Formats: sequence, structure tokens, C-alpha cells
Amino acid sequence: MINLRSFATALLVAGTLVTGGLVLTTTSGTAGNPSLAPLPDDEAVSSHAPYLAGQCGMCHDSGVPADGSPGAVTQEVAELCATCHYDIDQELHQRSVAHAPAIMDCTACHNPHNSPGASLLVEKEPKNLCLGCHGEIQQAIAEAAVQHDAVIDDAACLNCHNPHASDIQHLLTQLPFDLCVSCHSSDQPVEDGVVRTNFSQLLEENPYHHGPVEGKDCSACHLTHGSQHHSLLVDEYPERFYAPYEPENYALCYRCHNEENMADPETTTTTRFRDGSRNLHYLHVNKPDRGRTCRACHEVHASENPHQIREAVPFGPRGWMLPVNFTKTDTGGSCARTCHQTETYDYTKE
Ligand code: HEC
Ligand code: HEC
Ligand code: HEC
Ligand code: HEC
Ligand code: HEC
Ligand code: HEC
Ligand code: HEC
Ligand code: HEC
Ligand code: HEC
Repeated sequence: MINLRSFATALLVAGTLVTGGLVLTTTSGTAGNPSLAPLPDDEAVSSHAPYLAGQCGMCHDSGVPADGSPGAVTQEVAELCATCHYDIDQELHQRSVAHAPAIMDCTACHNPHNSPGASLLVEKEPKNLCLGCHGEIQQAIAEAAVQHDAVIDDAACLNCHNPHASDIQHLLTQLPFDLCVSCHSSDQPVEDGVVRTNFSQLLEENPYHHGPVEGKDCSACHLTHGSQHHSLLVDEYPERFYAPYEPENYALCYRCHNEENMADPETTTTTRFRDGSRNLHYLHVNKPDRGRTCRACHEVHASENPHQIREAVPFGPRGWMLPVNFTKTDTGGSCARTCHQTETYDYTKE
């Protein structure tokens, strides 16, 4: 939810706006707003050209302030800003999604004179500016066991959102999939020396894209702003090669797949990963202590083999890659010289 109190106090323009079912009525600006007074020069990081030029009268009633108070502003603030910043005004009116505070009052975020942050922002850190109103995101970040550096570091929110307006839902600067892939396409190790997947390379080199990846929906499995689960996942999924089998541990996969696949030692219906009626999913995965996790065989983003079967499995703490050597046949397949000698399955076998 939006923090309406701090939002309302930031509003200066007379008017009413309906957002997300909330009717926000704004107050008049004529009374003045000391919180928007100019900062002493030595506290300012950025200054506004017309203010620096001493042209108080561009915006205020009296041009030359004898006592430092140049009188009321001449127009409603949004209109005042639009007289010079018609490009931003045009974006607000022409793009399909406009940010509510930008329509109502530029000074919710900008000091018209100078500021402690870049771009005349009233907060030093752009992130704090956004979080001051977006309490729900602030809470998500504060409570997250796993944080997304993109959301909290440097440009933070502005890595993905336009503060004024956009033609993409949620004020995004690019389609979500393009945002994710554009940052996650590097071979540079991240801080702890780990090298992350280079997604543009992965998707280009591996023809079998997992359903939701094919649908360009990274958010089907990842929570962008922060998560309780490793790898920013939306649900539980074991982190390692071995894990005790409990369906809850695989809640992520079972959002979309059938947990019956793993349930019974014998089946002729729930899965094709079986030799006759011997359920090989059950055999590998469903163990009370050291069951193999799906990643032993499946690559969750994109793979070179059908059925999201991986080329090689990361095994052990040093991430040694153990080849799987999977060969698909019309009625089953085989894995050769991998965790075991060559083993073949055939789901049509009586
Ligand atoms: C680009 C437009 C613009 C310029 C130029 C500008 N101001 Fe302002 N100023 C505003 C706006 C908008 C507000 C906040 C509106 C309000 O509350 O009345 C404001 C508010 C103030 C306030 C706080 C008002 C109060 O009642 O406490 C002071 C003081 C002030 N300006 C001084 C100046 C001085 C001095 C100059 C020239 C050196 C100047 N301003 C130039 C737009 C401008
Ligand atoms: C009299 C014309 C004028 C008015 C009115 C005006 N601006 Fe500006 N503004 C400028 C100029 C000139 C620049 C500098 C442009 C540049 O460097 O490209 C600027 C720059 C800015 C910047 C970028 C500052 C930076 O450091 O990157 C912001 C933000 C801004 N204005 C906000 C506002 C807001 C908010 C209002 C209304 C309260 C407003 N402006 C009203 C002329 C104006
Ligand atoms: C929700 C907060 C917010 C509101 C409201 C807002 N801005 Fe901004 N604005 C920002 C941020 C954050 C940046 C810095 C963008 C960046 O660095 O990518 C910015 C940058 C700018 C810039 C300089 C860069 C550019 O995009 O040209 C101008 C000019 C500007 N704003 C004018 C305005 C005007 C005019 C309004 C009112 C119509 C307004 N802003 C309302 C947050 C806001
Ligand atoms: C002054 C309060 C205020 C500030 C500051 C503010 N927002 Fe907002 N924001 C709102 C309001 C109000 C809405 C409209 C909420 C609604 O429609 O439910 C909104 C909507 C949004 C939405 C669209 C939500 C959707 O589902 O379409 C995004 C994204 C967003 N803000 C991001 C940001 C970012 C990024 C910043 C910092 C640059 C920021 N906001 C700063 C008040 C604010
Ligand atoms: C890495 C890209 C990225 C960054 C950085 C980011 N967001 Fe978002 N944001 C998204 C995407 C994608 C959505 C669309 C919904 C979704 O998939 O979670 C979204 C949706 C939103 C929404 C509307 C829907 C909701 O979940 O309530 C708000 C508000 C929002 N973001 C605010 C913020 C704020 C505030 C920050 C900075 C603290 C931020 N975002 C940083 C990508 C990002
Ligand atoms: C079907 C669910 C799912 C979808 C959809 C998905 N991911 Fe993942 N992602 C995972 C899982 C599970 C992990 C953890 C990998 C593991 O431990 O085997 C992961 C790990 C990651 C990691 C961290 C590890 C690494 O290899 O870099 C990144 C980054 C990532 N995903 C980005 C993306 C992007 C970008 C998209 C969209 C193109 C996406 N994911 C779509 C499930 C998914
Ligand atoms: C602005 C660049 C940027 C964007 C955009 C971005 N990321 Fe990230 N992402 C990072 C950085 C930086 C990290 C932290 C370094 C690391 O651990 O890889 C990270 C880490 C991750 C991780 C691993 C988290 C962990 O600790 O295990 C996942 C998963 C992830 N991002 C998914 C996504 C998804 C999904 C999207 C699109 C919604 C996305 N990212 C968009 C920069 C970005
Ligand atoms: C958001 C939904 C979603 C989630 C979550 C999801 N999948 Fe999928 N998965 C799909 C879709 C859609 C397909 C393609 C259609 C199909 O074959 O069922 C697919 C296909 C597959 C296939 C290939 C099936 C075949 O016969 O070719 C495997 C293997 C698979 N997923 C494993 C996983 C694993 C392991 C997880 C958990 C880490 C997971 N999926 C999470 C939606 C999902
Ligand atoms: C030991 C290797 C292995 C493990 C571990 C494994 N799978 Fe599979 N899985 C396969 C093979 C091989 C196939 C392809 C069967 C075929 O020939 O159609 C398959 C097929 C699938 C399918 C397609 C439907 C079906 O059952 O035929 C889904 C969905 C699936 N696996 C999900 C999972 C999930 C979820 C996990 C973890 C809980 C998992 N798999 C663990 C090897 C494995």
C-alpha cells in the first residue's frame, strides 16, 4: 500500500485524482511550503538553473526577494514546471502509464531550487525517495532473506522504473524479460567470485527453453524485489544436489507440475520417466534423506536436450561438472557413464 500520509503532505497542487480506487484530494499551494525552501549552498549537491540565475520571479510573485521570501508561486506547481519542461509534461500525457505523483506534483520528489541529491531530488538516495511512499516494497525488502542487489544498490529502483511515465506496465523502462536478460548477460564474476549464468548466451545456445522462459516470464519463478527463498525464488526449492523428499520442498515446481510424478514406486500413467512401470522419478528423487533434486537431471532455464535434461550436473561444493550423456529414444532414453554405468529406460516396456 501507498503511505498516504507522507504522500498527502507532499502534495501541493489543488485537485483530485483517483488512483487504484483511492481518491486523493490535494491541498492548495498558496500557503507556502517551508520544506521546499532553498537549502544553504553548502548543503546542495544539485541546483536548478533558474534558481542559480537568481530568477525567483520566473516562479514566484515577486522577482527580487528583499527578505529571502519571494512570495507565493505564480501558478499551480505542475503547470509551472510544464512551462519549461514540456518534454516531461508531454511524456506524462502521451505515455500509457503515468506515475500518480508526477501528474499531481513535481515537488513530491523535486525541490525547485536545489537539493541534497542529484537531479534536484528531495532525498539524497533515490531509493529512499521511492520507499518513502512505497511502504509495501520497503517491507518486502526489509523482510527478504535474499535481496536483489539491482533493487538496493546504486540507481536502485531507477534501474528498472521510470519515475515519470512509461509505455510499459508498472512504469518499467523495458519489458521485464529484456530488463532481466540485459543485466544478466555477463561473464564477469560477481562479488563472491561466483560466475552467474550469461542469459543471452544460454538462451541462444540452448534450443529447449523451459515453458515460462519461452513465455518470457522470469517472474513466474523469481521475485524481483526480494524473496524468502534462495535465488529470489517465489517458492521453496532445494538449494543442493541432495535433499530429503517432501513435496513442500518442491513447491516451486509443483506450482505448475504434478507432484504425483514422484509419488509412487510403480506407475504406468503419472510419468514417462519410467522403465515399464518402475518409476525412475520416484527412484531418484523420493528418498527420506538423500534424494536427488530435480537439478541432478533438469536445467531450469534452457537446455541442449529435450525435457530440459542437462548436459552436465554441478556436483559437490566446488561445482565439478559431471556429464549426464543423455540420449533420447522414441520411447525413453539412456544416461551413459554418469552417476552410474549406462542405464536405459523404456516406458512402453510391459
Ligand atoms: C523553478 C521555479 C522556482 C524558482 C526559480 C524559485 N522558486 Fe522558490 N519555490 C518554488 C516552488 C514550486 C515552491 C513551493 C511552492 C509553495 O509552497 O509555495 C517554492 C518555495 C520557496 C520557498 C518556501 C516558501 C515558504 O513559504 O516557506 C522559499 C523561501 C523560496 N521558494 C525562495 C526562493 C528564492 C529566494 C528564489 C530565487 C533565488 C526562488 N525561490 C526561486 C519554485 C521556484
Ligand atoms: C523558467 C524555466 C524553468 C522552470 C519554470 C522550471 N525549470 Fe527545471 N530546469 C530548467 C532548466 C533551464 C534546467 C537545466 C536543463 C539542462 O541542464 O538540460 C532545468 C533542470 C531541471 C531538472 C534537472 C536537474 C538536474 O540536476 O539534472 C529538474 C529535476 C527540474 N528542472 C525540475 C523542475 C521542476 C520540478 C520544476 C517546477 C517546480 C521546474 N523544473 C521548473 C528550467 C526550468
Ligand atoms: C516520484 C518522484 C518524481 C516525481 C513526482 C517527478 N520526478 Fe522528475 N525525476 C525523478 C527522478 C528519480 C529523476 C532522476 C532520473 C534518473 O536519474 O534517471 C528525475 C529526473 C527529472 C529531470 C531530469 C532528467 C530528465 O528526465 O529529463 C527533470 C527535468 C524532471 N525530473 C522533471 C520533473 C517534472 C517537471 C515533474 C512533474 C511533472 C517531475 N519531474 C516529477 C523523480 C520524480
Ligand atoms: C509521493 C509519493 C510517491 C513517491 C515519492 C513515489 N511513488 Fe510510486 N506511486 C505513488 C502512487 C500514489 C502510485 C499509484 C498507486 C496506485 O495506482 O495504486 C504509485 C505508483 C507506482 C508504480 C506503479 C504501480 C503499478 O502497479 O502500476 C510504480 C512502479 C512506482 N510507483 C514506482 C516508484 C518509484 C520507482 C519511485 C521512486 C523514483 C516512486 N514510485 C516514488 C506514490 C509515490
Ligand atoms: C530489477 C528490476 C527492478 C528494480 C530494480 C525494481 N523493480 Fe519494481 N518492479 C519490477 C518489475 C518487473 C515489476 C512488475 C511486477 C513484478 O514482476 O514483480 C515491478 C513492480 C513494481 C511495483 C508495482 C507492483 C508491486 O509489486 O507492488 C512497484 C510499486 C515497484 N515495482 C516499486 C519499486 C521500487 C520502490 C523499487 C526500488 C526500491 C523497485 N521497484 C525496484 C522490477 C524492478
Ligand atoms: C521455472 C522457474 C524459473 C524461471 C521461469 C526462471 N528461473 Fe531463474 N532460477 C530458477 C531456479 C530454480 C534457480 C536456482 C538454480 C538452481 O539452484 O539450480 C534460478 C536461478 C537463477 C539465477 C541465479 C543463478 C545463475 O545461474 O545465475 C539467475 C540470475 C536467474 N535465475 C535469472 C533468471 C532469468 C533472467 C529468468 C528469465 C529469463 C529466469 N531466471 C527464469 C528458476 C527459474
Ligand atoms: C540493473 C541490473 C539488473 C537487472 C535489471 C536485474 N538484475 Fe538480477 N541481479 C543483478 C545483480 C547486480 C545481482 C547480484 C549479483 C549476483 O549475485 O549475481 C543480481 C542477482 C540476481 C539473482 C541471484 C540472487 C541470489 O542471491 O541468488 C537472481 C535470481 C536475479 N538477479 C534475477 C533477476 C530477474 C528475474 C530479473 C528481471 C526481473 C533481474 N534479475 C534483473 C542485477 C540485475
Ligand atoms: C510457472 C510454471 C512452471 C514452473 C514454476 C515450473 N515449470 Fe516446468 N514447465 C512449465 C511449462 C509450461 C512447460 C512446458 C509444457 C510442458 O511440457 O509441460 C514445462 C516443462 C518442463 C519440463 C519438460 C517436460 C517435457 O516433457 O519436456 C521439465 C523437466 C520441467 N518443466 C521441470 C520443472 C522443474 C524441475 C521445475 C521446478 C524447479 C519447474 N519445471 C517449474 C511450467 C513450469
Ligand atoms: C535422475 C534424473 C531426473 C531427476 C532427478 C528428475 N527428473 Fe524429471 N525427467 C527425467 C527424464 C529423463 C525425463 C524425460 C522422460 C521422457 O523420456 O519423456 C523427465 C521428465 C520430467 C517431466 C515431464 C513429465 C514426465 O514426468 O514424464 C517433468 C514435469 C519432470 N521431469 C519434472 C521433474 C521434477 C519436478 C523433478 C524434481 C522434483 C525431476 N523431474 C527430477 C529425469 C529426471
